[in-house]
Parts: sequence; structure tokens; C-alpha cells
Amino acid sequence: MEILRTVAELREWSRWERNDGGNTIGLVPTMGALHAGHASLIRAAKASVGFVAVSIFVNPTQFGPNEDFACYPRSFDADCALAEAAGADVVFAPSVAELYPAGAATFVEVDGLSHRLDGQSRPEHFRGVATVVAKLMIAAEPDLAFFGQKDAAQVAVLRRMVADLRLATEIVVCPIVREADGLALSSRNVYLSAEERVQALTLSRAVREAEALFASGKRRADEFVEAARETLASAQEIREDYIALVDWGTLEPVEIAAPGSLFAVAAWVGATRLIDNAILG
Ligand code: PAJ
Repeated sequence: MEILRTVAELREWSRWERNDGGNTIGLVPTMGALHAGHASLIRAAKASVGFVAVSIFVNPTQFGPNEDFACYPRSFDADCALAEAAGADVVFAPSVAELYPAGAATFVEVDGLSHRLDGQSRPEHFRGVATVVAKLMIAAEPDLAFFGQKDAAQVAVLRRMVADLRLATEIVVCPIVREADGLALSSRNVYLSAEERVQALTLSRAVREAEALFASGKRRADEFVEAARETLASAQEIREDYIALVDWGTLEPVEIAAPGSLFAVAAWVGATRLIDNAILG
């Protein structure tokens, strides 16, 4: 497996694979600290395209000024081993200056959507995500790009971006990979103390309860939100960021749940912000 550092190299590899190798191209964007959730995306990519590029880049523009950019977990050698074992053909690991050349002044802003759910408490976050994913897509020119449902609002923002910019990439969404006890895998789970790790389970419990409510015929948004609020409140170290029932396309709240509605929660567990969700039905 090759490690590429520049946009020019990634573009050249991707074009060669398509034109001379006759391959379709898949892109799996990540920020590293790879776990089994990331591996599932890479395996899904390998199963559907001939050439898989995994990007590993802790993107500074998607972190707020008081967030964890500086201490975000970095484990490049282990990440490369995991990526290769899961089927990556190349890892693209650029420097910050490579993706944001001196004086960089161009950003991709998906209006409206970018300020809902996570975008409400992290106002610059989705602008940073959209910008870096646009740069990666323009560089790699993938047929398919793979994202996790774990970050469901991110998926909504990126689908809108791809449609609006008429990019020739199809977004593929992969299911949430969980620990045996239900906790959604996240690179940020390493921040949790043993006690917080136990309390963090209330997020997945709240999501499971929402699924059960939907299965039992409940449809009113306030019933879903109230039930989850009670569940989160049962854990001392948990502080709610949002609990929402929304249309997955627009991220606008819905009053009545329907199959395909997104039920999403975000909460602080001590100093760590975690998210979880379910697509109902
Ligand atoms: P990161 O948090 O590293 O996640 C990379 C991809 O892995 C995302 O598509 C995310 O949804 C997916 N993922 C994370 N945890 C998962 C889980 N438990 N199950 C399934 N998939 C999971 O998301 C980002 O990085 C960045 O915002 C990025 C898109 C790379 C732009 O910088």
C-alpha cells in the first residue's frame, strides 16, 4: 500500500487507475485514529470499486477554537496497517499546508443545513467538513465516496454539496458500527474515563428506545424527544446538546415521525461530546 502526500500524486494515481488500470475509484475520507467503524467503510469500498483511496487528515477548519484539534488522537502507523488490512490501495495523508496553501481563502458553505444539529453548537464545523471533502473529491475524482451513518448530519450536508456542485461522485452511507454493549465506535471514545464510558451508554440506549417507540406505533416527535431526555437525564455526567427528530434530507424538525426520519442525539459526557442516531423504520 502506497502513502501519498500531495494532491498532485493522488490525482495522478486516481487517473492512472481509471484510465490505464480500468478501475472504478472509491474514496474513504477519515481523520485517522482508525477503528472498526472506519474499517467497515474501507471494506465496503473494496467490495464495490477497483481502487480504494483512504484519506487520513485531521482537518483544522472543522474544529472550533476551543475544541480538540491539538489533542485529537493521532496513530498514523497503526492507521496505515488497519487501512491496508481492510483493503486500502493508497493512503492519502497530506500536510495542512498541502490542502490549505498559504493564503487559502476558498470555503464551501452549505447554507442552512450547516447550522442544524451539530452545526448549531459547532457553527464553523460543517463549513470545514464540506470544504475538505470537496478538496478531496476534486483531487481523487472518485466514483463512490463512503461515509458512516454515525455522522448523519454530515451525510446530509455532503449529499447537498455533491448535488449542488454537480460533483460526479455518489455518496454511499454505511451502517453504524457499535461496541458489543451498544456504544457507537468513535475516535473520541478514548477520552472517556471508565465511569464516563458506562454513562456514555445512555446515548445508544436513547436511540434504541426511539427505535422501539417507532416500532410500537408512536409517531409524535415530542414523545421521542421526551423519552430520550429522560434517559439522558438518568446519567449524572451527561449534558444534553441536542435531541432531535428531523427530515434526513433537510435536517429540519418534523412533528410526526415517518420511515426514514432521522432521530439524533448529541451529549457531553464529562468533557467529551458524543453523538448517536437511528434512521427510523
Ligand atoms: P472521522 O470522524 O474520522 O470519520 C470518518 C468516517 O468514518 C465518517 O464517514 C464517519 O461517519 C465514519 N465513522 C465513524 N465512526 C463510525 C462508526 N462507529 N460506524 C460507522 N462509521 C463510522 O467524519 C470525519 O472523520 C470527518 O468529518 C471527515 C469526513 C473525514 C472530514 O474531515
